[in-house]
Amino acid sequence: MDNNQSKKCCCCEESDEQKYAKIEKVIEEYKGKEGCLIQILHYAQGIFGYLPLELQEFIAKKLDIPLSEVSGVVSFYSFFSTQPRGENTIRVCLGTACYVRGGKKIVDKLKEILDIDVGDTTKDRKFTLEVMRCIGACGLAPAISINDKVYKQVNPDKLNSILEEYY
Ligand code: FES
Repeated sequence: MDNNQSKKCCCCEESDEQKYAKIEKVIEEYKGKEGCLIQILHYAQGIFGYLPLELQEFIAKKLDIPLSEVSGVVSFYSFFSTQPRGENTIRVCLGTACYVRGGKKIVDKLKEILDIDVGDTTKDRKFTLEVMRCIGACGLAPAISINDKVYKQVNPDKLNSILEEYY
């Protein structure tokens, strides 16, 4: 294993070696079974939070399949991510109703508060910022969601206090 994989957090988190060992065990268990690649990728993403290239390479090697097959599946399904994700996912609705009622201003304000772009994750891995089309709250637009919670009639001035709930 290279140095990257042997990094260890100073707190009680598992080392990367331990994570890779867990994934290897699951690969042994699922190898050869139908649909095993997706299940393994799910498991691996659950452990690491995302699927970096070196992890995809590891899985491809252990399954004796080309990396392109693994990468193809990862890029096909939107629930797989190759970038680190935040503990919380903020989705700003930019569907028609929300757009018309200021959704874009919400996006701009969040970008400013979090100091990231859409699609990125904050340095402290607290938040990932995304946009989406209609979350079913058009009557009370503009709306955003954080994880499974929907916030309606949001205005840029409310954002700081909403985010505070997650610290
Ligand atoms: S357009 Fe935003 S909730 Fe429907």
